[in-house]
Amino acid sequence: MIGMDMTGKVTLVTGAGGGIGGGIADVFAAAGALVYVADMELDDARARAAQITARGLTARAVRLDVTQKDEINALMDQIVKENGKIDHLINCAGIVYSKPYLESSDDEFRKTLEVNLIGVDNCCRAALGHMISRKEGKIVNILSASSRMGSDFYTHYSASKFGALGLTQGIGLAAARYNINVNGICPGIIDTRIGEKQGGTLSQQMAKYSGKPEEQMKENIRRAIPLRRFQSGEDIGYMALFLCSELAKNITCQAINVCGGMRMN
Ligand SMILES: NC(=O)c1ccc[n+]([C@@H]2O[C@H](COP(=O)([O-])OP(=O)(O)OC[C@H]3O[C@@H](n4cnc5c(N)ncnc54)[C@H](O)[C@@H]3O)[C@@H](O)[C@H]2O)c1
Repeated sequence: MIGMDMTGKVTLVTGAGGGIGGGIADVFAAAGALVYVADMELDDARARAAQITARGLTARAVRLDVTQKDEINALMDQIVKENGKIDHLINCAGIVYSKPYLESSDDEFRKTLEVNLIGVDNCCRAALGHMISRKEGKIVNILSASSRMGSDFYTHYSASKFGALGLTQGIGLAAARYNINVNGICPGIIDTRIGEKQGGTLSQQMAKYSGKPEEQMKENIRRAIPLRRFQSGEDIGYMALFLCSELAKNITCQAINVCGGMRMN
């Protein structure tokens, strides 16, 4: 029987109060895992965990800022204390300042790197500390189509996501000898609230700078996707589930596009 049953597995998803992380948490919980729904915004994490547990599945909401190593180490220790292990780490927390490069600031660049790049490293290091002793574990980093193609609208975001791809490959090599797989997923475009706290969501900012209505921008984006539909958080969750399953035991150091055909690299 071929399957992706995660019963008995323990999964930590960062940024799980958001759109994609929430979808990933849903999918792992539906597959039987105990999911730690971690986010800097505890209310959002709680709301997602409550939705999951209302379906009779298992989830725990936890506050986590991925830029704070003390918090990360304390959470990993707590998870191991409660369950004896951590099987999967899904790094999904992220931010974006969507604006033309020439209008962006050093401070925005630093903040972007702090969350999207250093935050991923912080969480990988802390999880590896526990996974290596068991010689077992899976890490999935949520990258982006912008991990492989520069942009003058998301320049700093793209730089952070290029970096996270480099981390995925390098950490994957370092972890391989301990039977730990490290992979990335490159989503295309998903209509979430990303960017809201940094000035506006993707479609709001595109609308602002293009002078076109937001709905028209969304439609233009949709038409640029060969499959003519946006992906969902669950779509990314299904790929993460596969990468964490035994079916993917020989896949590591890879970045897989889930983008409706928008990218082919
Ligand atoms: N939405 C897209 O089109 C898209 C495309 C490609 C990649 N991604 C990536 O997917 C991931 C999730 O994005 P999303 O679209 O779901 O956005 P989102 O804003 O809905 O979710 C991101 C979550 O990360 C949390 N977060 C931000 N900073 C944090 C920190 N320091 N510590 C912990 N949590 C923090 C936010 O509170 C939020 O809940 C990001 O890494 C993003 O770069 C998104």
